[in-house]
Order: sequence, then C-alpha cells, then structure tokens
Amino acid sequence: SIASIRGRRVWDSRGRPTVEAEIRLAGGAWGRAIAPAGASTGSGEALDRRDGGTAFGGYDVKGAVAAVNEEIAPRLAGMDAADQAALDAALIALDGTPDKSRLGANATLAVSMAAAHAAAAAAGLPLWRHLGGEGATLLPLPQIQILGGGAHAGRRVDIQDFLVVCPAATSFAEALDWTAEVYRAAGAIMKARGLLQGVADEGGWWPAFDANEQALETLVSAIGRAGFKPGEQVAIALDIAATDFGRGGRYRLGLEGRELGTEGMIRMLLGWLDAYPIVSIEDPLAEDDAEGFAAFTREAGARIQVVGDDFLVTDAARVREAARQGAANTVLIKPNQRGTLTETLAAWQAAREVGYAGIVSARSGETEDVTIVHLAIGWGVGQLKVGSFARSERMAKWNEALRIEETLGNHARFAGGAVLGRSR
Ligand code: PGA
Ligand code: ZN
Repeated sequence: SIASIRGRRVWDSRGRPTVEAEIRLAGGAWGRAIAPAGASTGSGEALDRRDGGTAFGGYDVKGAVAAVNEEIAPRLAGMDAADQAALDAALIALDGTPDKSRLGANATLAVSMAAAHAAAAAAGLPLWRHLGGEGATLLPLPQIQILGGGAHAGRRVDIQDFLVVCPAATSFAEALDWTAEVYRAAGAIMKARGLLQGVADEGGWWPAFDANEQALETLVSAIGRAGFKPGEQVAIALDIAATDFGRGGRYRLGLEGRELGTEGMIRMLLGWLDAYPIVSIEDPLAEDDAEGFAAFTREAGARIQVVGDDFLVTDAARVREAARQGAANTVLIKPNQRGTLTETLAAWQAAREVGYAGIVSARSGETEDVTIVHLAIGWGVGQLKVGSFARSERMAKWNEALRIEETLGNHARFAGGAVLGRSR
C-alpha cells in the first residue's frame, strides 16, 4: 500500500517547470514519473495547472506541486498502488472538474504514472511487462520527426511535423538505424542549400523554406540520399496540426500567404498524397472541423492512416463519436491529454473496439521520463511518436524501446508497416 507521495518541481526540455511525483510503498518499492507539456494543444485536453504571474513566464507549477503534497498524498495514502483504476478514480473525484483544472492534469498524471511504476517495482517487473504480461511482445513502429515546423519552429513553416516511418524495417532497432541515416542526410542537404536554421522543439531540423512542399521534396531527397527507396523502405508521415492555423472552416497558410477552406485543404493534401510517398497524416483539419475530417477520411482513409490528435484528445467518447461519423481511422494517445492512465487506456480500448489504430505520443515539452514507451509496449499499441532523432528527452525514449526489444530477444515482434491505420 502507498506509504508516501511526494511532489516536486523539475524542469522540462523547454526549460519550463513541470511536476514530478514519487511514490513509496509500505514494502519499500517505489516509482517516479514526470508530466510532459504540449505547445499545440487541443481545446478538449485536460488542463495543466500553471501559476500564472511573471515568474518563468507564468509557467510555474507551485500550485500543482502543492496539490500533490497537500491534497493527493493524504487522499491516496494507504491505497493499493496496483489498483490503478481505484487510484485514478480517487484522483478524478478529488479534482472534481471535467478537465482536471483544479488539481491540474500535470499533478494527477505524474501521480498516476508514478503509482504504475511503484506497482511494477513491487511486482519485480519492468512496467511494460507489468502492464501487458507475457503477451506484451509488440515493438512499435516509430514515427520520427525529421523537420520541425508550426508552433515548434516559430511558425517558420505551417505544417508542424515532417516525419518518417520505416514500414520495411524488420526490427525496431533497424527502423532507428534507417531513420538516423535519413536525419543526417536531411541535415546535410539543408545545410548545403543554406536552409538550415538549427533544431526545433522536438529535435527536428528547423528549416528556412519558402513553401510547405519544399519540406516534402527535401524529405524525399533525404530518403534517397540515405540509400532507401522512398515509400517502400522509408515513407513520410505528416502532422499538419491544422488546429493551429484553422478555425471555422478557414485555414490560413502563413508561409504561402493564402487562405483555404476545408475543401481547399482537402484538395491540397490529396495532391500531396499523389506526389509524395505519404502513409500517415495527423490532424489534417482543425479540431472543430469534424465534417472535414470525415470528408478527408472518405477520400484518403482507405489509402493512408488518418490520425486524430487535437481532434480526439485521447478521449474514449470522442473516439466512438468519430467512428460513427467516419472521421479519422487512428487515435493519437497522449496520457496528459486526459490526466490519468485509466482514462488514457480507455481511449485506446475504444479505438480497438471501433477498429482504429493507435499511436502513443510524447509532447513537445518532454523530459527523461520514459513511461510512454512502457505504455506503448505494455498495451500493445503498435506505434510510437516521440519527436525527432536528437536531444536526450527524445533519445531516452527510443533507447528505452531498444532495451526492451533486446530483453524480449526472439520473442519480440516488430509492428512494421502493417500496423498503420486504414479505413475499411
Ligand atoms: P504538442 O505537439 O505536444 O506541442 O501538442 C505534439 C503533437 O501535436 O503531436
Ligand atoms: Zn499532433
């Protein structure tokens, strides 16, 4: 049973405060976890509690840390750390709001994840095995950012993530090997053309392009330069993050100085599908454009993976509603969009029920915490997106999955391209 819970303020990859929770059990086992933070958030997400004011740009989390130490700790003391559903129900009831805004989703998620780690430690198991048992053998297809944009690169390009997946790789380790070469090649090409400005929030190259399609062309060149067949061995995935530049069916592409309606956006993206080896598009339209989402999915969902992030916000009810509308075919799974592991798992279970694929995802503000890797493998989700192939808050996650693949040895099954979502 839970003997003590301690909250503390630590720092994330953007140098902003965030919440860490540490849970000790009566038997001596313990667990620790840190909440991440998004920058391009959906309005339906559970809310982080921030102090406001002037310190650290208003991002301080003294209130959320106090909520852990003064409210959550006494409430959960004595409870069974292995009963995740009961712990999370207690957190939800204690908070009392629909969006975790009173305690803060950063407070509740850090505690929820720390409890899972403590329970796994008490069972003497790694978290992924504790969650998934002997059946947890599926290594995810990684979706890895090569170029950053949108809110993560000063809006230098409109599209937020230009990523790759390696559908033909035969192991998780091999997918990383291939991606490392593509990442290097993309950097070299951009540097040679004077188009490299540094790295963006998730470690991808920060590009100085004049058009969104320049990024797609660079990506195709980089895949070829690295020695791979574009589309077959290494393919493109995009996170449009359209909520950031669209609302009410109007989409403002700042880079190209034009505004498109829903229909125009769909035509543009379908054009890209014909011209480039794209296998996955996330948030092609804004969170308020369910009809656009459904129309795009009708046009493209049999061919490519259509992912809802801001649109579905890891919410089981929204996943079921989207399925009724035929909008998207894959759900992005971000634990801090809900604030407890139980609700996060419910969204993934809803996805399975309606035949959607899933991608466990990090946030743009991250830390050394690797809990999401254990969730992806323990729950058998099949895909993992944690940003680029640089910076240790990203690499910590890829490296953790490498260790798990090695531990599984010849029991490991790599998800490969077959796991990508499709509408049927
Ligand atoms: P965020 O970006 O963490 O800033 O929301 C990640 C994403 O949009 O997938
Ligand atoms: Zn996204």
